[in-house]
Amino acid sequence: MFSSPKSPQTPMDSLATLGILFVSLSLFTTSPAATSDSSPTVYELLAEYDFPPGLLPKGVTGYELNSTTGKFTVYLNKTCSFTIDGYNLKYKSEISGTISTDKIKDLKGIQVKVLFFWLNIVEVTKDGDEIEFSVGIASADFSVDNFYESPECGCGFDCDNGIGGKASKFRLNFRPFVSDS
Ligand SMILES: *[C@@H]1O[C@H](CO)[C@@H](O)[C@H](O)[C@H]1NC(C)=O
Ligand SMILES: *[C@@H]1O[C@H](CO)[C@@H](O)[C@H](O)[C@H]1NC(C)=O
Repeated sequence: MFSSPKSPQTPMDSLATLGILFVSLSLFTTSPAATSDSSPTVYELLAEYDFPPGLLPKGVTGYELNSTTGKFTVYLNKTCSFTIDGYNLKYKSEISGTISTDKIKDLKGIQVKVLFFWLNIVEVTKDGDEIEFSVGIASADFSVDNFYESPECGCGFDCDNGIGGKASKFRLNFRPFVSDS
């Protein structure tokens, strides 16, 4: 017959509780050490989700983020377009989506011109050192090196300030239509 010792379990339980508390606390204190009392910039926030800052152009005036759901809205001071590797990108002044580590989905407000069409980029995923822009039927992979600096509206990465010019690994992958409906 087993008689489970009751009193020795109590300290262990307390330790476990402390451990859980500690983990929860570290999860909730995610503000970067660099910013003391102000909230992180949108570019710092991208870094917290393992994305490079250059995913957003310069000129962000504000953002909203629900850190529970990852839903965000970013405001640019104007609509913005530029070219990366011969591909035209267009950012609206309001961009929204749902962000999690290495993945942005339900994206609205960024378009890429593929052949003759402006297509909405609906998803951005980071896989190692590649960033994939997905437009549903096709996706384009860019090297993450392209995004260490934020592009400037108009001239993108080819402004006269030494940014850009990096050889990037770029390819456009067309996916066969797969019906999700
Ligand atoms: C938008 O922001 C960019 C970068 O900060 C700045 O150069 C530009 O003058 C701003 N444009 C307007 C219309 O405020
Ligand atoms: C975040 O979204 C959840 C679910 O929609 C909602 O319950 C919560 O109030 C939101 N938090 C903030 C800070 O808006």
